[in-house]
Amino acid sequence: MTEADRRPLIIGSGIAGLYVALRARELGLRPTLVTKARLEESNTRYAQGGIAAAIGPDDSPALHLEDTVAAGDGIVDLAAARILTFEAPARIADLVRYGVPFDTVNGQIALGREAAHHRARILHAGGDSTGYQIEEALKHRVLDAGIEARERTILRAIRPGRRDGAVAVLSDADGRGVEYLNPGPIVLATGGTGSLYRQSSNPSVATGEGVAIAFRAGALLDDMEFIQFHPTVFWRPGAPRFLITEALRGEGAILRNEAGDRFMPSYHPDAELAPRDVVARAIEREIRRSQCGTVFLDATALPRDRLFTRFPSIVRFLATYGLDPSRDRIPVAPAAHFMIGGVSTDVEGRSSLPGLYACGEVASTGVHGANRLGSNSLLEGLVFGERVARQLLHPAAGGPTEPARTLAIPLSPGEGRAEEAEPLERIRDTLWEEVGIVRYAGGLRAALGTFESIAAAVEPAGADDLPGPLANAALTGRLIARAALARTESRGAHFRSDYPKRRPAWNSHLGLRRGPPGAAARGAARKR
Ligand code: FUM
Repeated sequence: MTEADRRPLIIGSGIAGLYVALRARELGLRPTLVTKARLEESNTRYAQGGIAAAIGPDDSPALHLEDTVAAGDGIVDLAAARILTFEAPARIADLVRYGVPFDTVNGQIALGREAAHHRARILHAGGDSTGYQIEEALKHRVLDAGIEARERTILRAIRPGRRDGAVAVLSDADGRGVEYLNPGPIVLATGGTGSLYRQSSNPSVATGEGVAIAFRAGALLDDMEFIQFHPTVFWRPGAPRFLITEALRGEGAILRNEAGDRFMPSYHPDAELAPRDVVARAIEREIRRSQCGTVFLDATALPRDRLFTRFPSIVRFLATYGLDPSRDRIPVAPAAHFMIGGVSTDVEGRSSLPGLYACGEVASTGVHGANRLGSNSLLEGLVFGERVARQLLHPAAGGPTEPARTLAIPLSPGEGRAEEAEPLERIRDTLWEEVGIVRYAGGLRAALGTFESIAAAVEPAGADDLPGPLANAALTGRLIARAALARTESRGAHFRSDYPKRRPAWNSHLGLRRGPPGAAARGAARKR
């Protein structure tokens, strides 16, 4: 088989999936791209703030690295973060080459600020429609390049194969027409789990089945307890949880409580530009105190013209609720936003299974540590996507190192009952209420009980039967709760009211692996 005959299968059509497909094609491969909805429907499309890269005259990759490491709260993988920040400018050049229309000032790419970045280094496009502009540009390139793109097709399972290949089991979006594809390299670019939470900034496609399917196949996962909550999504009963970008705070908007008082300076010296977890917890506390369900983002001191040109999508969205941000305070509250952990990979995107690669939000390189710096996520999809594309051309042995703390989680057969809508709603409520911004052992145990009882009903009865979306959702919820229960400390995005301090003993990643059925899920000291 020649290199050109190798047909990588790429699952997912956000920034990571589209970019890997394009780069693989440019390198002479013939990738197939599979996506569960329309090609353009992904979390990427809804990203507002932008994409971080040290391209300003007062900036450098070393400073970007410093901020990334500081935000990650002690457990950032330094090698991965160095790659992310130092390779960022080259990947931005790729986006420009692919036609992404970044906003400019006096002919130079415009750069904004976001929380915990100590330089202006956020590139944006169309004001606050950065994700949309990137998704559209890459999608058109993929179509122009003649890459086979199959929409409304879902990954059902991965069957591990030989050194540079695995078998993908696919079906249509309704679960019909099951087919076994390849064996060849599979790239998971399926995104995160945000929409499994009741309150979420993510679109409904972000259901995290990539991690569940990889786990079922035996892949190592890392750091599933670290779910990032965005501090500010629009909050009004019955309205969508529309993201109100951090870039608005970067421009000077401030947070006020129900009484109208600015509260962030009393929580952190960086006030509204403190790390995301700090701002989210402060808001949650103010909301609990006032019992009014929301705090308010006040952008009324910003010049009206600036607001309307820099944040046109937000202005348009608010207008449908009769609000004008130059005049009205915006009701906001936190919501689940980003899965920091995921399928464990090395810096080349290699998972622990031969032939299975992962990049973008579904992957966990350790680059974000315990808390992702805003606008590093689109970047992550590009930087590690590039490395995956090169591996597809010249595969080499490798993979992630298993953390010393790794839990073996058993997966037992269930009754294989038909899936219904109600248990999914229960999963979403349980994740939000018990595995949300503030956690404690009792709530996490209760959540595990809920996920396990749903799994007992809907997990397949036979080893060869294919799990459905609800079984995968219950498993993903269980993995997040199990990891959150194990990490008996507070660090970054993971806050335990019963362990409110960071503990040096936990200065490490936490692995999760499928254990033998019936085995107790407990830590094992295994390091390769
Ligand atoms: O606030 C935002 O625009 C979010 C950015 C991000 O999550 O990277």
